[in-house]
Amino acid sequence: MSEAPVTAHTDPVYDGLSLIASRHCKRAFLDRPVPRDVLAEVLLAAGQAPSSRNIQPWRVTVVTGTTLDALTRTLREAFDRGESPRPDYANRPPTLDDTAAERARTALSGVLRAKGHAPDDTTAGRAHLRDNLRFYGAPAALVCHLPADAVPATFLETGLFLQNTMLGLVARGLGSCPQFSVAGYADALRRKLDIDADRIIVCTLAVGHPDETAPVNRFVPRRAGLEEYVRWS
Ligand SMILES: Cc1cc2nc3c(=O)[nH]c(=O)nc-3n(C[C@H](O)[C@H](O)[C@H](O)COP(=O)(O)O)c2cc1C
Repeated sequence: MSEAPVTAHTDPVYDGLSLIASRHCKRAFLDRPVPRDVLAEVLLAAGQAPSSRNIQPWRVTVVTGTTLDALTRTLREAFDRGESPRPDYANRPPTLDDTAAERARTALSGVLRAKGHAPDDTTAGRAHLRDNLRFYGAPAALVCHLPADAVPATFLETGLFLQNTMLGLVARGLGSCPQFSVAGYADALRRKLDIDADRIIVCTLAVGHPDETAPVNRFVPRRAGLEEYVRWS
């Protein structure tokens, strides 16, 4: 594994909006470690996220190396045993309206197609879920957790922090994928990573140098037009 320096975006034309618009999920990574100081730099900048009265509720456990290998093994064993995911909170309403349901279907089938599978191939669907549990082969995983008394605004603030983190990673030539699927194994994450039993596991982030030759890393689900979510009054 090489330790080549990470690339930073230094082009002044690469402005903030371009950075925001260029962030998309990466689900295939190079076998190249992410330097700890780069992660620290990004997480420090991400911590500038706003929060109600500056509470800064987010906590992150950074997992790499043999700890990541052991965690991945544990998660996949749980999956292979047929253990049902038991996340600490719901990530979407019990029923989706037609538009939301269509977007969710298209996003998943796009990823499966980009991985060379038919969207209705249930074996491939399961393999994709299992791939989540190895963090898509990323050399680093971030596990984001919150106190047990977290309220909706706590999650809102944590989302701001996570988006900052993902954008910061892009700015340093890295890619990421947020993962709720892994949070389905919250008990295993807490146990393996010495996270207190009452902490809420929000999600994980797979982090690494994206393999830009992988078709899955070029799939970008279509976004709604402005008129679909903005009203000027
Ligand atoms: C909270 C959250 C959880 C997510 N969980 C997963 C996941 O478990 N696995 C995965 O591959 N993608 C996951 N995603 C990524 C979304 O599918 C993705 O952001 C969406 O389809 C838009 O694609 P883009 O981020 O590439 O633009 C998650 C995103 C968010 C914000």
